[in-house]
Amino acid sequence: MNVLIIGGNGQIGTRLCKKLKDSEHVPVAMVRKEEQISKFQKKGIATVLADLERDFSHAFKGMDAIVFTAGSGGDTPKSQTKVIDRDGAIKAIDEAENAGVSRFIMVSALKANRSNDLWSDAMQHYYEAKAAADDHLRKSDLDYTILMPGRLTNEDGTDKVELKKKIEEIEGRTVPRDDVASVITEIIDTPSTFGMSLDLLQGDKTIEEAIKALDTK
Ligand SMILES: NC(=O)c1ccc[n+]([C@@H]2O[C@H](COP(=O)([O-])OP(=O)(O)OC[C@H]3O[C@@H](n4cnc5c(N)ncnc54)[C@H](OP(=O)(O)O)[C@@H]3O)[C@@H](O)[C@H]2O)c1
Repeated sequence: MNVLIIGGNGQIGTRLCKKLKDSEHVPVAMVRKEEQISKFQKKGIATVLADLERDFSHAFKGMDAIVFTAGSGGDTPKSQTKVIDRDGAIKAIDEAENAGVSRFIMVSALKANRSNDLWSDAMQHYYEAKAAADDHLRKSDLDYTILMPGRLTNEDGTDKVELKKKIEEIEGRTVPRDDVASVITEIIDTPSTFGMSLDLLQGDKTIEEAIKALDTK
């Protein structure tokens, strides 16, 4: 599959491009600055120059699947979270529908689909943005999977995860970005994950086992 990675230059995005390149799929990293292109060229990974704050419809041409793993980051004003994590994601969903690209994986966040009592004041705007984009995706006709990872780390991947509709014990737990990228690579063409919103944390099942276990629930 030709896979567009929106947020390709990000920390999950960079890992994901490499894993997809090493698989049978063909990643295309969507980047927003010319100077980001050479990093991908050196690894033989295609890029498309596009910005979520402008018209980015050209990026969807020839794609079979979209992964949205962009984000405004913690160092920008709260208003930017609405622009990228909410409105950018919603535009990407609409563009996928317009372009007839049916497969869409959203990197959302753990707790975004839970009671707002669990949201700290500092993070409320973030969860609201994620929840609005996720709701838009659920109402679309796309073959979506919404991944809801907990706090991300840059530790090496372990290939051991907990992946399910609702993880009960979440406090203090994390997941390496590398494992999030591995899960996306595994589920990109796995129809049993279509239409699902899945919590994701480091756990004790291999990624393959965790995906298989979804079928039995
Ligand atoms: N941090 C956590 O603990 C945590 C937990 C759960 C979920 N998440 C979510 O996981 C996702 C990926 O996380 P990450 O750590 O990989 O994020 P990251 O490293 O901050 O990457 C975000 C990417 O989004 C891109 N981006 C920002 N504005 C853009 C725009 N206008 N047009 C195009 N691209 C734009 C950035 O581009 P540049 O490279 O050009 O800056 C960057 O490559 C995010 O959605 C985040 O909210 C995070």
